[in-house]
Amino acid sequence: MSAKRETILSGIRPTGRLHYGNYFGAVRHFLRLQEEDRATCYYFIADYHALTTVTDRQDLYGNTLEMLRTYVACGLDPRKSVIYRQSDLPCTAELSLLLGMITNIGLLERGTTYKDKLSKLREDPKAEGNPLSYGLLGYPVLMAADILIVKADIVPVGEDQRQHLEMAIDLATRFNSRFGETFHVPRPISRDALRLPGLDGAAKMGKSDHNTLDLLDDPATVLKKIKAVPTTTEPAPLDTDSTDADTVIPKMPAGVGVLYRLLDLLAPREVFLEFLEEYRKGGKFYGNLKKAAAEHCSKFNDPIIARYNDPANSAAAVEEFLRENARRVTPVALETVEAVRAAMGIGHSLYRA
Ligand code: AMP
Ligand code: TRP
Repeated sequence: MSAKRETILSGIRPTGRLHYGNYFGAVRHFLRLQEEDRATCYYFIADYHALTTVTDRQDLYGNTLEMLRTYVACGLDPRKSVIYRQSDLPCTAELSLLLGMITNIGLLERGTTYKDKLSKLREDPKAEGNPLSYGLLGYPVLMAADILIVKADIVPVGEDQRQHLEMAIDLATRFNSRFGETFHVPRPISRDALRLPGLDGAAKMGKSDHNTLDLLDDPATVLKKIKAVPTTTEPAPLDTDSTDADTVIPKMPAGVGVLYRLLDLLAPREVFLEFLEEYRKGGKFYGNLKKAAAEHCSKFNDPIIARYNDPANSAAAVEEFLRENARRVTPVALETVEAVRAAMGIGHSLYRA
């Protein structure tokens, strides 16, 4: 007898344009899982979660569609994966409310997202427009609802989301022991995720740090951004003969390392090795290195931009597959919520006389 097909779930907040950090840290793993076709992949845009930081309705709605168009342009395929919008599954909000009843506030106050925001506001109470909201405190509960509602087996998230996944597993386990076996508990994951540095040499590329290279950047923008990467005049010695990217890149000055990382990810191996040779020789080669990195990035962006602008990939087409997928996910989700209602002893007019 064949085993039941497993379910993979991941969500991404609609923060605007996708950058290289998103792609190499998350999207390319989504694509690999989709193509392996060993499990059913559910990918969704977490627009409820985005409301903890975004307040402009037009912007959020538009960003969500734009991000989905970019996903499709990257190769995510709504015929192979179930791609949906979180808010099209409003029973997630009900499940979040129900899970909230067994969630300790102490646990939530240890949440990293909440703690970060709290410390930022302590530093500067006027720093950000949004308040320290109930929604933000409950962020991990909503995320647990996302995961449990579709009975996910595997949740591939980056290091920054690991704590949230552990909270979801913890909540499901606690619920099951208190109310009886109701939730399917996902497996914890380990993934050595690549963390892509920012173009300014900072440890992480991130939208709020304004140091991103975006998938939809045109060649002129790519060149301008890459030219601005800070490079020191003299390369630091590598102290090793290794040609392994993960060994040599951390030994380079931060900005230079970013350029080599881009070559490592995008260029043929011999190009990386050629420039590594140049590095060891020293001298003035940063101009050429930047030109090569920019060329390879633009070559990578080219087909993505073309597919993004393809008339078949319009906002209307995205809305169409969102509707279709919401219809596919809803029965699974309602089944979960109904089991939880029954376990907790509350009613539902559609299901109980
Ligand atoms: P964010 O846009 O910051 O919400 O990131 C969404 C997801 O993209 C994260 O959970 C990570 O998996 C991935 N990600 C974002 N920035 C980076 C980065 N600089 N390096 C690697 N992965 C990243
Ligand atoms: N919190 C995740 C992030 O900020 C997005 C997310 C929401 C998610 N719900 C999820 C990820 C469920 C995986 C599973 O990146």
